[in-house]
Amino acid sequence: MAASPDQFRGQARLPHFAAPLRYDLRLRPDLAACTFTGAAAIAVAVSAPTRFLVLNAAELDVDRASIRFQDLAPTDVAQFEEDEILVIGFDRDLPLGEGVLTMDFTGTLNDQMRGFYRSKYLYNGESRNMAVTQFEAADARRCFPCWDDPAFKAKFKLTLEVPSDLVALSNMPVAKETVSGSIKTVYYEESPLMSTYLVAIVVGIFDYIESSTSEGTKVRVYTQVGKTHQGKFALDVAVKSLDLYKDYFATPYPLPKLDMIAIPDFSAGAMENYGLVTYRDTALLYDELLSSASNKQQVAITVAHELAHQWFGNLVTMEWWTHLWLNEGFASWVSYLAVESLFPEWNNWTQFLDETTSGLKLDALAESHPIEVEVNHASEIDAIFDSISYDKGASVIRMLQSYLGAERFQKALASYIKKYAYSNAKTEDLWAVLEEESGEPVKDLMTTWTKQQGYPVIYAKINGHDLELEQAQFLSDGSSGPGMWIVPVTSCCGSYDAQKKFLLKDKTDKINIEEFAASQSADGEKNQNIWIKLNIDQTGFYRVKYDDELAAGLVNAIKAKKLSLMDKIGIVEDSYALSVACKQTLTSLLRLLNAYNDESDYTVLSHVTSVCLSISKITVDATPDLNKDIKQLLINLLLPAAIKLGWDPKDGESHLDVMLRSLLLTALVRLGHNETINEGIRRFHIFFEDRKTSLLPPDTRKAAYLAMMRTVRTSSRSGYDALLKIYREASEPLEKSRVLGSLSSSPDKDIVLEALNFMFTDEVRNQDSFYILGGISLEGQEVAWTWLKENWDYVLKTWKSSSLISDFIKSIVPPFTSEEKATEVTEFFAGRIKPSFERALKQSLERVRISSRWIESIRSEPKFGQTVQELLQAKA
Ligand code: BES
Ligand code: ZN
Repeated sequence: MAASPDQFRGQARLPHFAAPLRYDLRLRPDLAACTFTGAAAIAVAVSAPTRFLVLNAAELDVDRASIRFQDLAPTDVAQFEEDEILVIGFDRDLPLGEGVLTMDFTGTLNDQMRGFYRSKYLYNGESRNMAVTQFEAADARRCFPCWDDPAFKAKFKLTLEVPSDLVALSNMPVAKETVSGSIKTVYYEESPLMSTYLVAIVVGIFDYIESSTSEGTKVRVYTQVGKTHQGKFALDVAVKSLDLYKDYFATPYPLPKLDMIAIPDFSAGAMENYGLVTYRDTALLYDELLSSASNKQQVAITVAHELAHQWFGNLVTMEWWTHLWLNEGFASWVSYLAVESLFPEWNNWTQFLDETTSGLKLDALAESHPIEVEVNHASEIDAIFDSISYDKGASVIRMLQSYLGAERFQKALASYIKKYAYSNAKTEDLWAVLEEESGEPVKDLMTTWTKQQGYPVIYAKINGHDLELEQAQFLSDGSSGPGMWIVPVTSCCGSYDAQKKFLLKDKTDKINIEEFAASQSADGEKNQNIWIKLNIDQTGFYRVKYDDELAAGLVNAIKAKKLSLMDKIGIVEDSYALSVACKQTLTSLLRLLNAYNDESDYTVLSHVTSVCLSISKITVDATPDLNKDIKQLLINLLLPAAIKLGWDPKDGESHLDVMLRSLLLTALVRLGHNETINEGIRRFHIFFEDRKTSLLPPDTRKAAYLAMMRTVRTSSRSGYDALLKIYREASEPLEKSRVLGSLSSSPDKDIVLEALNFMFTDEVRNQDSFYILGGISLEGQEVAWTWLKENWDYVLKTWKSSSLISDFIKSIVPPFTSEEKATEVTEFFAGRIKPSFERALKQSLERVRISSRWIESIRSEPKFGQTVQELLQAKA
């Protein structure tokens, strides 16, 4: 073997000649100095002749003199920061078999929300530090030297030395505690085999509440002191979810305890650390008086998602990040299953179509990627925590489940979990188990969905007695890619009782519809009322483009209320996407939307509303002269449902109606509906004087904030100042996030700039920047871009996490709609690109070009203006 440690540089993964078995870690954080010291004793199995041990370490100061393997001192130690590896060389080959590697090291409790970091909180009015870990994807190496790869599972035994008045939590229960002066030493039980990214530590001052599962597993929710009542809802969801998953996966919860804790500075929404799940406040805490219905749902979904990982992810772990979607797609899918069973009235599976929709939107870009994506460097991993891994992942699982049937699917999953427990699996391992249990060609079918990017649009047309189908890859830029899929096609004709299913394996195929027609006449319906819907309940990850005749049939079916909620959603979403891709006119989309004019269901209207807002936005640039009329048209569409609901909650109304009220009022404000804006402002003033008023509960507050901001100008800025005052006086993160989400929505550029700069003050946590970014008004786009360019270096330095950095680009670039702007953005980033945001940038630029092309197409629609007028008249 070559003599130099250099040979290990530039590799995607660590060499396999030595692997960790057990980590004995001792860590001592200094919360005042924001540093820590550590000592590691790692039992290592050497399986092939080597003179080197190669493991990960980053931003750690390893004391070279302290390193020993058994009695051997190394002769050569090299730390390569770029590769994040530590190479320890000895003067001879190491003995095969088990040996213990020991070393001491120190590090910084950073403020980057990754690795071992510090978060700040108020205790008795004073600012305090807490020490927290966030290791996924590849940041355990910033806390201790380790084989930081999910496939190197080992047992962990932690010991923490902390101030004796603090609570110190880790994955496992405390085995022993000793106190010496002001410092206590906490010894934790040894963990089962687990991956490094799931190790966790939290040290601070907390209260907790406790409950237990039917099996007797203790579950706790830790909160800031005095806030435990806000943890009750999550605790309840957690206990019920654990019981449910235990049955679903036919395997008990693998650890002796589960703690869940709210962390004030947190880069993601939540993290599934084994036995110690961390959350940002708003994803864990629920307060009857402060939370909206949608906050409540988010808490339930998040808890259910993280707890699903305790099996899918933690017990059975992906073999490498290429298979990240196994973790995230599955946890997302199964969280809906759990929440559906806990809260059937939320109609959760219909809401799941939000996930499918965002997966379909992202995957229609040429700059998308396959679900299984190659990863060559740790810095590339964070960027794949995206809508492809989560939403497309979850959606193709739903598609497969619906193809195989729920029972077969569950049985196979349970066998998979048993087979790979305490170990790792790849995507094809899952397919193999499913194939064996079901006898269906799962691998061939699913490979077309996970190894190639994109998805098909199926063109459907009637030809005599045949329904002819043809698949082609759908891309929002209007081109059609080379992809081909095995598509589980479902269809129904005239009624949900007349269904057909088959696998579309070739480019084209056809269904004989005579049988369908027969069941039609049995219904006694006339031929003109025939409707055919493909992709029943949108279980398939594809779109459908109907010929004119079929499309007209579906419009009639919507008006006649024959279709399921999910199908109504699918039709409007497909039609919108086809319009963006210029495969269908905006004119016909407007006519279709008109068929939803007496819709009253939240799930459907949430999709209709988002389509309306996109149309309103694109027509500002495409047809400025018509924009006002188009807005009026869209207002006419949404207003009846909004009027029915009003601003005030009604006794006994459903959860979904509460969600709907909030949705419609904010949409009407955004569309510029004067009465809604005025009422919002009226209520805002009352609320500002009396924060306890019943006139502005959490569900409608955001609409009032946005209404207020529409009036704010540099010359009349009292609304902005009032919101800032609310922000400063609010102690609750939920309320703060609501205000932040409104601050940048003024039509005045200088106010937008002020809101953006507010993000840089220490009044706003770095974790919360995306609220401000997400709220930028159309009028503020240009100033936001200039601001981003001017502050890019600072932004890059301050927001190191990939998702947070990408948020800046994803909020500021895609609203642009011109080729010139795309060029300008490209030029600015030339020479500035980093792996953490490269994909987000390319996708954002692609979106700009798609909008630009769509605008051209809209301008050339011959009957657009006329149709707008006609639809407006019809309503009046
Ligand atoms: N494993 C992730 C957290 C994560 C995300 C770690 C990105 C590292 C990088 C966790 O299970 C997760 O998916 N959290 C979601 C919430 C969930 C409800 C979709 C999140 O943070 O948004
Ligand atoms: Zn997850």
